[in-house]
Amino acid sequence: MISVKLYNGKTFSSEPGTSLLDSAKAAGITLEYSCRTGRCGVCKTTVLSGDTEALKGESSLTADELAAGMILTCCRQALSNVELDAEDIGALGDIVVKTLPCRIDTITRLAENVVEVVLRVPPTSKLHYLPGQYLDVIGEGGLRRSYSIANAQRADGKLELQIREVEQGSMSQYWFGSAKPNDLLRLEGPLGTFCLRDKSASTLVFLATGTGIAPVKAILEQLLSTPKLAEGKNIRIYWGGRTAADIYWTPQLDGLSASFIPVLSRASADWQGRTGYVQAALLDDAIDLAQAVVYACGSEDMIHSAREALTVAGLPVKHFYSDAFVSSN
Ligand code: FES
Repeated sequence: MISVKLYNGKTFSSEPGTSLLDSAKAAGITLEYSCRTGRCGVCKTTVLSGDTEALKGESSLTADELAAGMILTCCRQALSNVELDAEDIGALGDIVVKTLPCRIDTITRLAENVVEVVLRVPPTSKLHYLPGQYLDVIGEGGLRRSYSIANAQRADGKLELQIREVEQGSMSQYWFGSAKPNDLLRLEGPLGTFCLRDKSASTLVFLATGTGIAPVKAILEQLLSTPKLAEGKNIRIYWGGRTAADIYWTPQLDGLSASFIPVLSRASADWQGRTGYVQAALLDDAIDLAQAVVYACGSEDMIHSAREALTVAGLPVKHFYSDAFVSSN
């Protein structure tokens, strides 16, 4: 039997032909992940000892990272006993992934190309999740797309999604064409490991682009409803869009020590706020990144450049959490 050891001492066994991520999951251990397809880079880690082999393409690893012994746990199997520079996420250990029927409760237009879809699940099968996680919606013909849950757990169990129109996107044609209240769908979730971590850092930074604000909204609701999580923390929320019309939501931050900073990349002349990219805006603010934890959600480009620029500027690598929206048509 092949054994995999994490740097916090936990171990699990690995089956040939099964990814390290799935082997861990089978043993009740949750490692960092999001896309499960090699594209987002969230499951990236370093092999400290032992041999592994790729089961599929690791497209989000650079040549330098490969040379440095980095792997994607969603793409690799162990060939020998292995030690990884990764740890499990204890808080996610009790979360059960379910497939449930659901119905559309409401559909509301938030912006020209964004709708809010609220789903309701049968009252007896509420979904338990951590704010920041995502779910897959399964539509007609098995068509499946991933969406972050945009709310913290509600008493009525409803789940809010923010959905951006994708040109030529098969699921978009449904959401922006024929979807209506009471339509029956299925969902699978909760998925992913994007959630608030128990870090002692004094500054919490959220970086979002587009509908990447959805999981940030969920986490902010969690902070508002559990004030001790935000105690002594300075919170900064940077939300990037192209134009002012992309800033379709304003957070309620009463009771939090928080700043909301919209950043536009194609601002019109009358825009009074910040311009450029969210990661550059954060760097311009010259906060002490050594004391910060950054949660980034949105486009792959933003996540990759933010991770690089911020770690160079002093953010500890393990204080950068991300959920990249990997696009599909
Ligand atoms: S690259 Fe492995 S979870 Fe996304």
